[in-house]
Amino acid sequence: MKVVMIGTGYVGLVSGTCFAEFGADVTCVDVDANKIARLHAGEMPIYEPGLAALVASNVGTGRLKFTTDIGPAVAGADLVFIAVGTPSRRGEGFADLSYVYEAARQIASHLDGYTVIVDKSTVPVGTARNVARIMRETNANADFDVASNPEFLREGAAIADFMRPDRVVIGCESARAEKLLRELYRPLNLRETPILITNLESAELIKYAANAFLATKISFINEISTLCETVGADVHAVAKGMGMDGRIGSKFLHPGPGYGGSCFPKDTQALVRIAQEHGSSCRIVEAVIEVNAAQKARMIKKIREALGGSEAGKTIGVLGLTFKPETDDMRDAPALSILPPLMEKGASIRAHDPQGMHEAKQYLPSDVHYCEDMYDVCTGADAVVVLTEWNAYRGMDLARVKRALKGAVFIDLRNVYERATLEDLGFAYHCIGR
Ligand code: NAD
Ligand code: UGA
Repeated sequence: MKVVMIGTGYVGLVSGTCFAEFGADVTCVDVDANKIARLHAGEMPIYEPGLAALVASNVGTGRLKFTTDIGPAVAGADLVFIAVGTPSRRGEGFADLSYVYEAARQIASHLDGYTVIVDKSTVPVGTARNVARIMRETNANADFDVASNPEFLREGAAIADFMRPDRVVIGCESARAEKLLRELYRPLNLRETPILITNLESAELIKYAANAFLATKISFINEISTLCETVGADVHAVAKGMGMDGRIGSKFLHPGPGYGGSCFPKDTQALVRIAQEHGSSCRIVEAVIEVNAAQKARMIKKIREALGGSEAGKTIGVLGLTFKPETDDMRDAPALSILPPLMEKGASIRAHDPQGMHEAKQYLPSDVHYCEDMYDVCTGADAVVVLTEWNAYRGMDLARVKRALKGAVFIDLRNVYERATLEDLGFAYHCIGR
């Protein structure tokens, strides 16, 4: 089966590589010539655990190829996936579909024989039908069906999520297209992965609804964590007690500095806009967005208070910059909302991240001091802040941290340490909801 992936980013590269691993003949296309050149040179354009080895082995078998040239790739393909970015349109919250529609135009002019065009990008309801319309306008002779196959992988666990998904959702209204998609995902039958077939609109909405619901769980527990601090409860005990109810579930109830990343922030906003555009509303999701912004603001206040009421002239050592561990992705990372305001009020930042420092330099103020060694962020600092829960930060030599610090303030925004341990070592320990 010949598969083409348009867009070789976090989703396109992982999905394309995994389809090749399933046995398909895959070509990943990208307009970014530098990205494709790096892949040809055997370099990974992103950090994703396990990806380099899987790419190398599938390139080795000849099942996985990379190109900037869409024409020859698309001609003769059975399935062409659109996996380009759908960022927020600046300042408005609507998903920017210009990359999707441009990809549709490019695909249409090169089609050769019956092809299924599959939206894998996260796109508003109605996009698949618009893709079909644009393709027909571009090439009246094109022989194709459209389908929607939203992706649910998480960065940092992308390969396992793709290979062992909870479900595969396929929005599809043609038996011929459904047969091809079922054939592509056939290796998942071994694990009895449910395949849910819906109409196009339902598949498109499932993706936004799922992301918004997960974001809701996070904002919910973050709001409860604030209440815990006021009433003297422990948010972990509360989350555990809630999660033991099978109807609620224990996942995504970990408090933190607010959700970030390339998807929850933009997808919650886009869902609100989709509802508004259709004369409906998503008031719960609006509140989720508001609570998330408040949580990030609360983290700034927490750091300020831990520093004795003012950050001016203070040095803060920051552990972790990416929006979550095991990725180099800085898109909408809480660090971007929390660190610049502290710096504006006169704080100096010393920062470390195992994979994200290169990316962070493009987003954070230029006077952040980056440290190659994680312990070095503590050197002469008034406080240390755990902002992302990389494994390396979970088992630090705390006596060494204490010796390096000027102050003894430990601010744990991911609740990875126990209060008693830190206080026994003489730290003033601050965390979330405990
Ligand atoms: P990304 O920015 O990492 O990658 C998108 C790629 O598409 C870029 O390399 C860009 O150069 C390329 N591109 C743009 N226009 C193109 C064109 N016409 N032809 C060829 N290439 C083109 O984005 P991503 O994080 O992979 O996200 C892609 C989509 O998948 C988004 O809609 C996102 O919401 C969704 N999604 C992302 C994740 C995730 O974890 N990142 C998970 C599930 C779904
Ligand atoms: C998320 C979803 O989990 C994926 O299913 C989805 O495919 C993807 O978005 C997408 O559409 O792009 P991802 O953003 O990679 O995946 O990472 P998550 O693990 O979901 O974390 C998102 C944010 O929520 C991070 O900032 C994380 O720290 C935060 N989070 C997560 C919490 O604060 N608490 C939790 O309990 C879980």
